Order: sequence, then C-alpha cells, then structure tokens
Amino acid sequence: MQTRPRRLRKNPIIREMVAETRLSKEMFIYPYFVVKGSDVTEPIKAMPGINHFSVDTLIKDVEAGLKLGINKVLLFGVGEDKSEDGSSSYDSTSVIPEAIKELKKNFGANIYVITDVCLCAYTLHGHCGIIENDYVQNDVSVDALSKMALAHAQSGADMVAPSDMMDGRIEAIRNILDDNSFTETAIMSYAVKYASAYYGPFREAADSAPSHGDRKSYQMDFRNPDESLKEALLDEDEGADILMVKPALAYLDIISLVKDNTTLPVACYNVSGEYSMVKNAAQTGLIDEEKIVMENMHAFARAGANIIISYHTRDILENGWIE
Ligand code: PBG
Ligand code: ZN
Repeated sequence: MQTRPRRLRKNPIIREMVAETRLSKEMFIYPYFVVKGSDVTEPIKAMPGINHFSVDTLIKDVEAGLKLGINKVLLFGVGEDKSEDGSSSYDSTSVIPEAIKELKKNFGANIYVITDVCLCAYTLHGHCGIIENDYVQNDVSVDALSKMALAHAQSGADMVAPSDMMDGRIEAIRNILDDNSFTETAIMSYAVKYASAYYGPFREAADSAPSHGDRKSYQMDFRNPDESLKEALLDEDEGADILMVKPALAYLDIISLVKDNTTLPVACYNVSGEYSMVKNAAQTGLIDEEKIVMENMHAFARAGANIIISYHTRDILENGWIE
C-alpha cells in the first residue's frame, strides 16, 4: 500500500498538527435580547440558557462575558412600544439606543456593539417592514430602517446589521450613515436570509412573530441557491462590509457558495432553532452537548464562515471548549 491515510490520525499530537480547520474565540458574536425596565434576568423558555436582560443586568452579563473573551455582541430590542409603522424602532429613547450608550459608557472600545436593524419587534403586525394595501411595502420600509440604523449609529453602535430583507436597504443605510458623518460605522448585511422554520424559538424571544401570513414575500425560498449569489453580490455592491448567511446548519452549501464568490468576510448565523434543538437533545441525554456543538462550529468554519453568530458562544468559552 502506497498511501495509508491513518498514519496522520495515529495520535492526538499528529491529529492536531494536520487539522485543516481551527476555531478561535475571535470568530464568535454573542446575541442578546434587551428589554425595558431594571433588574430583569428572565429565562427565555424556548431557548434554554438564554435570558431577557434589562440594560442594567445586560451590563453585568457583558462584563462577565468580556472576562471570557466575548467582546462582540449583537443586540435585539424586545417589548418596545409597537405601532403600525414601527416608529419606536428609530426613537433614540428606546431600549437599544439606551443599551448601546450604557455599553459604551461602561466598556468603551473594549466592547464591539452590533445591532439588529429590523422592524418586526416594533410593528403591531410583527412583519419586518411597513404594511400598506395588505402588502409589506419595500421603499417606505427602507426609509424606516435607515432611520433606525442612524439612531443606532448616533448612540454609538460600531456596526449595524439589517435583517429585514428589503431590497436596496444596504445602499440606503450606507448613504444615510455617510450623510451624517458615520462613515466608520460598519454594516453587516443579513444578505442571504432564507424564510425558515428554524427561527421559531427566536420569535418567542423577540416577541416578533407575524400576526398573520409569513415572511416569504421578503425572505428567500430555501430551494434557491443561485439566488444567494444574487443577494450577496447586490449587498456587496451596495456597500456591505460583511455578508451573512442565515440559518447556518442546514445551509452549509450556501455559506460555501457565498464564500467562494466574495472577497468580503462571511458570517453565518447559527439560529435559535438550531440552538434549541441541540440544547433540548443535550438536556434529555440524547447527545453529548460539547461534542455536538464543537462539531457544528467546525462545520461552519469548514464551509467557509469567518464569523459565527451563536447562542452557544457563552457555553463554549465558559466551559473552555475553545482556548
Ligand atoms: C428579525 C430577525 C429574526 C432573526 C434575526 N433577526 C427572525 C425572523 O426573521 O423571523 C432570527 C434569529 C434566530 O432565529 O436566532 N428579522
Ligand atoms: Zn424582522
């Protein structure tokens, strides 16, 4: 036999040496759900291990996370005043602007603050845009989303992450940020976001389930891989700094396709349903949580993700699953 692949699998030392994929803590972004009020630490039932925090308890949790090396957070606002047009989303006194300011006041440049930009937690109907004539209208929604992104930038966000899937929003957001001298505020686009049942637990966490219909007129059809390139390249052209693929686990082919066709960093979002399935299976003893989580994380990196947004981040670093 000329070739014996097993030679390079003989023991941990040689396996470590030839490993083709390596994770580092720098790749991870940890999401937070922020609610109004004070002293709130309320477990989210659909997502074991994840809480609703008010701004004060968020600061404490982030402080503990920073010691573990969690220095990039993605913020979602929950339980804001809801209206037909979602206008509290760009109110500078709402919970996310307040959270950004407090994080920056407490931790300055040591924390990198990313904010989700979308209307669904702020509209009465729970859709990601503004509804007129029974349809989620693109261009008026883009105006509202741009104002929301600007409000976050004015509060000190380092990066905004639009997750709405309206057409042309990256260009509109880049323009409004630049026109207001926020040329250094980065945009991570949820560029390739499929309509997915894997968002189920999140909608409880963010109180953002659509009251009627679904999101298929704006989020992508999971049968369409070519369309991922159309969306990714449009957002790259419009000025996105990072392209995100979402969900992650059932979309490894899409992560790989996007990675091969862009020079931008590629992020993937290991979403709530993917997280909660693992947590539930681990809690009932069906699987080994550490092994499954680390296998999934390596799969994202192997597919080409440079950045991983995951609710598992805290467990991974707290338990030392990555150095
Ligand atoms: C809001 C938004 C969603 C997620 C991130 N931003 C839900 C949705 O589009 O329905 C999903 C995140 C997750 O499931 O963890 N547009
Ligand atoms: Zn939304």
